[in-house]
Amino acid sequence: MAGPLPSSMRFIDMAGPGGPEVLTLATGPVPRPAPQEALIRVTAAGVNRPDVLQRMGSYPPPPGASPVLGLEVSGTIAALGTEVTQWREGNAVCALVPGGGYAEYCLAPAPQCLPVPKGLSIVEAAGLPETFFTVWSNVFDRGRLKAGESFLVHGGSSGIGTTAIQLARAFGARVFATAGSPEKCTVCRDLGAERAIDYRQEDFTAVVKEETQGRGVDVVLDMVGGPYVEKNLRSLAVEGRLVQIAFLQGSKVTLDLVHLMMRRQTITGSTLRPRPVSDKAAIAQSLCEKVWPLIEAKQIRPVIDRTFPLAEAAEAHRLMESSAHIGKILLTTG
Ligand SMILES: NC(=O)c1ccc[n+]([C@@H]2O[C@H](COP(=O)([O-])OP(=O)(O)OC[C@H]3O[C@@H](n4cnc5c(N)ncnc54)[C@H](OP(=O)(O)O)[C@@H]3O)[C@@H](O)[C@H]2O)c1
Repeated sequence: MAGPLPSSMRFIDMAGPGGPEVLTLATGPVPRPAPQEALIRVTAAGVNRPDVLQRMGSYPPPPGASPVLGLEVSGTIAALGTEVTQWREGNAVCALVPGGGYAEYCLAPAPQCLPVPKGLSIVEAAGLPETFFTVWSNVFDRGRLKAGESFLVHGGSSGIGTTAIQLARAFGARVFATAGSPEKCTVCRDLGAERAIDYRQEDFTAVVKEETQGRGVDVVLDMVGGPYVEKNLRSLAVEGRLVQIAFLQGSKVTLDLVHLMMRRQTITGSTLRPRPVSDKAAIAQSLCEKVWPLIEAKQIRPVIDRTFPLAEAAEAHRLMESSAHIGKILLTTG
């Protein structure tokens, strides 16, 4: 049994939109689960780029979500809503949450919880949900990447990138990745990229063309946008799919659609957070069936750059904004 719930907890409060200094440790009430929710005693929470955008005021939480930052947690179930049947108090889980992760206790819709894979620590499991849900739904559901196809991911050393390289490779694709330094490129290759492209030194369009004998890749996962969009389309094969998940260099572009038409290409994209629980439950089920066994077999692992105590959330954000990290940044409550 998980024991009685305390009435108060520590969490990271946000004084208002601004720099990392707006994040401070505060005390508030422990939330209580609605009928279909689990309350998780948080061991660790993932820090994601969308948290930085929310802190700056440009990515507000969807209606009903906690205003506290944090889109993924791991820990043990402390209490269950009256309609939850698939979990027990004390179960070790990781969960995709609509907000509220930077705290000692966090609510999660029960279908968005997954067991901590065997062989991973509870802390490591906090690095799974946001990137694995995002990569699965965008690369395999929307992008329809198949074994034998080729795949290019930008930001290869990011949390999303390190996950995308490993998953695409594990499911039989040829993988290319871009990253911003030789050290980051080495990590991309170690994770399974056949060719890592240092975009500060090389033109990725030219490299992809050469590596694929002019054919192009089948799927591109892009978080950069802006000038990359046209270059991505030039790097795609006939019937290729461009999946847009962010736009670090701008969301507005001018395109000549002739190329897209002649090569029968598709541009798509999605953002995970506002999707309904039923969509996220379906992604969770796919991950549990198809990906968790690969983690347990040690074919895939979350790449963790650094953990910070919860109280140092501002430092964690400074590291993320420096882009010096490789893989995930986590906050721990212990
Ligand atoms: N649509 C969705 O559902 C969804 C869900 C989660 C995350 N995302 C997005 O996916 C991206 C990655 O998220 P993450 O949490 O993995 O973040 P992250 O680890 O901080 O990765 C972002 C990476 O992008 C590169 N980068 C930063 N600024 C750049 C710029 N101006 N131009 C080009 N590259 C830049 C950096 O690598 P280099 O040093 O190699 O440049 C950095 O490591 C973010 O943009 C995030 O908003 C989308």
